[in-house]
Amino acid sequence: MKILIIGGNGTIGKTVAAHFKENNEIVIAGRNSGDVTVDIADSHSINEMFEKTGKLDAIICIAGEAKWADFKDLTEKDYYIGLKSKLMGQVNLVRIGKDYLNSNGSITLSTGILADDPVVQTASAAMVNGGIHSFVQAAALELENGIRLNVVSSGMV
Ligand SMILES: NC(=O)c1ccc[n+]([C@@H]2O[C@H](COP(=O)([O-])OP(=O)(O)OC[C@H]3O[C@@H](n4cnc5c(N)ncnc54)[C@H](OP(=O)(O)O)[C@@H]3O)[C@@H](O)[C@H]2O)c1
Repeated sequence: MKILIIGGNGTIGKTVAAHFKENNEIVIAGRNSGDVTVDIADSHSINEMFEKTGKLDAIICIAGEAKWADFKDLTEKDYYIGLKSKLMGQVNLVRIGKDYLNSNGSITLSTGILADDPVVQTASAAMVNGGIHSFVQAAALELENGIRLNVVSSGMV
């Protein structure tokens, strides 16, 4: 299978990439390193990445940021970091990436434990994770060509 791993050089991504490397063709994407560069906060950049990768069997995203800070200090601008990067970045990967997947392909997104077990300073990060969970449950109902959409909610790594 040809698998695109966005964030494949990151803490979690490195292990995931090493696992799939055994029996698959891996394409790693990141802002500063990888086989292709992309900033998932920018949909033009996502389009350019898929033009370079061509058709794929699977897309895995293990990337995306959100601002951590005390609730009293989080500004509107701070919330937009998570909304543009981790939330809409992954929504746009699905929206655009589905057209580059072969039939029965798979898309896997990343969130995290904060969606269900928030701690202080995570109003933005937890909100974004929860939003992605709801998005995946709804969008998975409408994907065509046998394409599967899942999200992995990691614990602390
Ligand atoms: N580590 C944990 O304990 C944990 C727990 C739960 C959830 N998560 C979530 O899992 C994801 C990965 O976490 P991690 O700890 O592996 O992070 P990490 O070590 O910082 O790695 C993130 C990777 O994603 C790339 N990246 C970051 N922002 C990007 C963007 N806007 N566009 C494209 N690539 C981008 C980075 O490469 P460049 O810098 O080159 O862009 C890097 O390779 C994050 O969304 C994080 O919130 C992590």
